[in-house]
Amino acid sequence: MRKKLAAGNWKMNGLRASLSEVEALIAAHPSPSCEVLLCPPATLIAAMAQAADGKIFVGAQDCHMAGSGAHTGDISAAMIADAGAGHAILGHSERRADHGEDDAMVRAKTEAALSGGLVAVVCVGETEAQRDAGETLDVIDSQLTGSLPDHATAANTVIAYEPVWAIGTGRTPTLEQIAEVHDFMRKTLTARFGAEADGMRLLYGGSVKPSNAAEIFATSNVDGALVGGASLKAADFGAIIAAL
Ligand code: G3P
Repeated sequence: MRKKLAAGNWKMNGLRASLSEVEALIAAHPSPSCEVLLCPPATLIAAMAQAADGKIFVGAQDCHMAGSGAHTGDISAAMIADAGAGHAILGHSERRADHGEDDAMVRAKTEAALSGGLVAVVCVGETEAQRDAGETLDVIDSQLTGSLPDHATAANTVIAYEPVWAIGTGRTPTLEQIAEVHDFMRKTLTARFGAEADGMRLLYGGSVKPSNAAEIFATSNVDGALVGGASLKAADFGAIIAAL
């Protein structure tokens, strides 16, 4: 039985004052039935981990592939863990687009995260042009194959399907389209990882909000969500948590 996961990605949003949202979230949902993860910008990881007080998980939004060294502006898995986080989002489409991260880089970063003891939340998803061209499943297949290391397990790896055209747009795929991709991911992961794939959580991400969360969560092979904008406010994210 896979434990459901509600994950929030704050992206480049949030100052220390925003941590009041974390306190409000925990106060409103002291014992959620799902796991809850928030990934703030790196500047807030340590403070959020303190505010979370072990009641929700805290993660980073990226992790460098090297353990240390001359990489100005980057942070390593050990630094993330040292700041109090246990997860890292890897290969988000915004990093693939803004920082030229390809599957090989995402895989190397995922390997570094796993070696550092973090749980990797690895993102895949097609662009609108790729969907229109009928390439969605091929894109997902090649991103999964290229981005995941061989030692990915149910315990250390979560997959997030985030269609690029649904991120921050208010548009979502139909439930049939979500099910098609999630069922395909389960099949693809099973072909590579065998029984271990049964336990891997598959999150949907892209314009998840309180009003559409329940129907998305009821969709085949959806084990939770990776939420952007609606994770910033305790009321919205709390409603999504309650729908899981
Ligand atoms: O990683 C979360 C994400 O990209 C979805 O963002 O704002 O559409 O929920 P949003």
